Amino acid sequence: MKRVPKVHVIGAGVIGLTTATLLLIEGYDVTILAKHFPGDMSIDYTSPWAGARWKTLAPNDDARLQRYDADSFKIFWELAKCRADETGIMVIPAFDYYKDPTADQRNPWWKKVVPGFRKLSRKELPKDVDIGYTFTTVAITPERYLRWLQSQFVALGGKRKHVEISNLTDAMDDPQNTVDIIVNCAGMHAAGIQGVNDPHINKPVRGQNVVVRAKHIRKTISVKTKQEYTYVIPRADGTVILGTTKDEGNRSAEPDPAIAKDIMERACKHCPELTNGKGIERLDVVGDIIGLRPKRNGGPRVETEVKVSPSGKPILVAHNYGHDGSGYQASWGSAKHAVKLIKEHHETLRAQSSKIQELLSRL
Ligand SMILES: Cc1cc2nc3c(=O)[nH]c(=O)nc-3n(C[C@H](O)[C@H](O)[C@H](O)COP(=O)(O)OP(=O)(O)OC[C@H]3O[C@@H](n4cnc5c(N)ncnc54)[C@H](O)[C@@H]3O)c2cc1C
Ligand SMILES: *[C@@H]1O[C@H](CO)[C@@H](O)[C@H](O)[C@H]1NC(C)=O
Ligand SMILES: *[C@@H]1O[C@H](CO)[C@@H](O)[C@H](O)[C@H]1NC(C)=O
Repeated sequence: MKRVPKVHVIGAGVIGLTTATLLLIEGYDVTILAKHFPGDMSIDYTSPWAGARWKTLAPNDDARLQRYDADSFKIFWELAKCRADETGIMVIPAFDYYKDPTADQRNPWWKKVVPGFRKLSRKELPKDVDIGYTFTTVAITPERYLRWLQSQFVALGGKRKHVEISNLTDAMDDPQNTVDIIVNCAGMHAAGIQGVNDPHINKPVRGQNVVVRAKHIRKTISVKTKQEYTYVIPRADGTVILGTTKDEGNRSAEPDPAIAKDIMERACKHCPELTNGKGIERLDVVGDIIGLRPKRNGGPRVETEVKVSPSGKPILVAHNYGHDGSGYQASWGSAKHAVKLIKEHHETLRAQSSKIQELLSRL
């Protein structure tokens, strides 16, 4: 009789929780090993700090990233339809503006992915921007969504273990030697685990945002210029995220008041409704957010390899990390891809060992 394969997923961010849940649905026996779980707040745990809305950053020539984002959109859209309250996913109108747009920005690949996509006419555009689109998208309230994902995982029989992994072999060895598969979803720390060799990992990209109370804002705005990236993202709890900065390699967890002021000014300029045109002094500020985006050259690493445990057992090691500023909007698509690779390659490993079993039983 076939034993249910046992999986250790390292990481309980949006990527680890999503991947672990899909693996459970596929019938695997899954335990998440992580230092941080939903509810924890740490600069080393990116997921609670995200915006987080769907606004793809996948380039026009990258079909893999496009598929991750498009597949994820469909799932968020369905969840918003039937589980909006518990998941904290909202359907909202989006306004997307560009100054000095690139060729990709002039020709968005994703216009058929989101409902209601329309290019804005010149007279609908705010001054200072060259091009703009409106469409319908989803905005996710991270803490609520992460807790919901975790509760789905647990309800399906998933197990959790609070532990820090310093070497991949730590995740391979249990006394009974029963682990078959490891999935590395450790975000920006993924390549710091001994045994993970990745020359493409970048320094994380620091983002500082401001949280304000403004429950009348029920749309998201994004303005991209060559120098700046400004956004306004509402959350299900009546707060709104104003952003952002991208500072590669800076891991400071301290908010910079000058940056916060600049963000509030940019946000109020592009979304005067925040304070009914009365400027940043009228903002009802809740606090600052600082998160580190897990950047990787060439995009997220979603692949598998075979490693040997200290006791000599072949272990399938899958990776799903390095999602930079797209971890939410790529989560389901990226996890689906990882699970597909795991199924295929684990079948191959199992076929190899059953061939040997067959051979030995004939001798
Ligand atoms: C300011 C900001 C705004 C953003 N906005 C958006 C947005 O609008 N839309 C969007 O899609 N994305 C957005 N993102 C990006 C998104 O937040 C990330 O891509 C995503 O959270 C990454 O998730 P993850 O699960 O890979 O990593 P994490 O959330 O960092 O999770 C990593 C997990 O691995 C565990 N771990 C790490 N190392 C070890 C170890 N050695 N041993 C044990 N456990 C370990 C951690 O404890 C944690 O559980 C934003 C990010 C920031 C910072
Ligand atoms: C990680 O574990 C492997 C196998 O036990 C070992 O060979 C290697 O030295 C370990 N790395 C570190 C840095 O401890
Ligand atoms: C990192 O960013 C913070 C906040 O802006 C700033 O105060 C600090 O000087 C930066 N550190 C480095 C090394 O650039």
